[in-house]
Amino acid sequence: MHAHHSPLTAHPSGALAGTALTPGDKSVSHRALLIGALAVGRTRVAGLLAGDDVLRTASCCRALGARIERHADGAWTVDGVGVGGLNEPELVLDMGNSGTGARLLLGMISTHHLTAVMTGDASLVRRPMARVIAPLEAMGARFVAREGGRLPLSVTGAKSPLPISYRLPVASAQVKSAILLAGLNAPGTTVVIEPEATRDHSETMLRHFGATVTVEPFEGGRRIALTGQPELTARDVVVPRDPSSAAFPLVAALILAGSRLKLPGVGINPLRSGLLLSLKEMGADIAIENRREQGGEKVADLLVRASKLNGIEVPADRAPTMIDEYPILAVAAACARGRTVMRGLAELRVKESDRLAAIAAGLKANGVKVEMGEDSLTVEGTGSPPPGGGTVATHMDHRIAMAFLVLGLGARRAVTVDDGTMIDTSFPGFAALMNGLGARIAGPLLKKPARATAARKPKKKPVARAKKRGRK
Ligand code: S3P
Repeated sequence: MHAHHSPLTAHPSGALAGTALTPGDKSVSHRALLIGALAVGRTRVAGLLAGDDVLRTASCCRALGARIERHADGAWTVDGVGVGGLNEPELVLDMGNSGTGARLLLGMISTHHLTAVMTGDASLVRRPMARVIAPLEAMGARFVAREGGRLPLSVTGAKSPLPISYRLPVASAQVKSAILLAGLNAPGTTVVIEPEATRDHSETMLRHFGATVTVEPFEGGRRIALTGQPELTARDVVVPRDPSSAAFPLVAALILAGSRLKLPGVGINPLRSGLLLSLKEMGADIAIENRREQGGEKVADLLVRASKLNGIEVPADRAPTMIDEYPILAVAAACARGRTVMRGLAELRVKESDRLAAIAAGLKANGVKVEMGEDSLTVEGTGSPPPGGGTVATHMDHRIAMAFLVLGLGARRAVTVDDGTMIDTSFPGFAALMNGLGARIAGPLLKKPARATAARKPKKKPVARAKKRGRK
């Protein structure tokens, strides 16, 4: 394992204010590169997330024959090879920390007649790949993987791919997307049935590039059908800002008295919006303004004001629409008044870390009352700032790191996370962006924020300002 741990400490902070330009959507960014790589012609991508996970996907697409460039103005171009046109990579595909990159690429490779070897970092090699291996084997690919279907593995894509009809055993957009991407190079119709609807970025983007994808309601979930062997045509893509990343400054603004924050251009796809719904039920003041559409994805500007939050019950069927947001929701719950119960969290056990255990341990270390079940979490908030003062083990998980730094901003004493390096997978520049809004996050690789924010210390002023507007 890497020995380059870089701890970060979040100190209790005053109000946040300003406009936060948060990074591009990770899910959409992966898909823009992968589908662009299978299109004919040059795809231009604006707003791509230049985080480590997406950069891995970019270099793997290059290894498979696509030409991908990042231009001076921040835009990216992808020159695709066409469906069926991928080359055999010479070197091992290293997906780093990225489960999405790994699973979607395996899908794409599975119906190309080539052999590839894939690996990842110490977190990724522990995560289950059997969930994609099973359907991709049914389509004709062959895998040699470690025990339990773990990376590193080798895959040989099918010479004569078969379309399948597959019912997802877990609600997973990654598995759905792997099958759809594989189906692109199979003749006939590939069908995925999902018992619960999951994020539909693949369906939207495949259509954007000219594929025929139909989606129908089916037994409470959805039935998705893709017509195989289309000619995908290069298109321009505008990537919305990631709601899963915007969630961190958003919750920080909610819990820091007097805060007022604008988050422009954030994706509000309903299959990603469970956090907004839950926070609003807790009493959050979040205005959703200027709703519009960008390349088939809904976006809006979010205006967030500090709010008194109350505990709620988050039902299990909401989990697919906020699966990556439980760490930060748990932090909001720790700062709320009363009990928050979250159910249906089994999938959190197989994320970048066992997130359920990591959240529970982190809250405990900071004096928050928490109870962890097999697939549920109960957090007791007192309505006043949690004690803090603890050190949190991040287990190579970017979202655990960011969530607990937000806790530290709102706690009575500072919170330290043992390693902040993984934050770069999804939110490069997180600490600097937060500090620019008034947060006090410090670490060996950061400029000291203490001076500039010392002036904020008297918490009275922002509170007073807030009162004038008739808020608490
Ligand atoms: C993602 C799907 C989700 C999510 C992940 C991104 C995607 O994973 O947790 O961060 O882009 O398809 P699962 O498919 O495992 O639920």
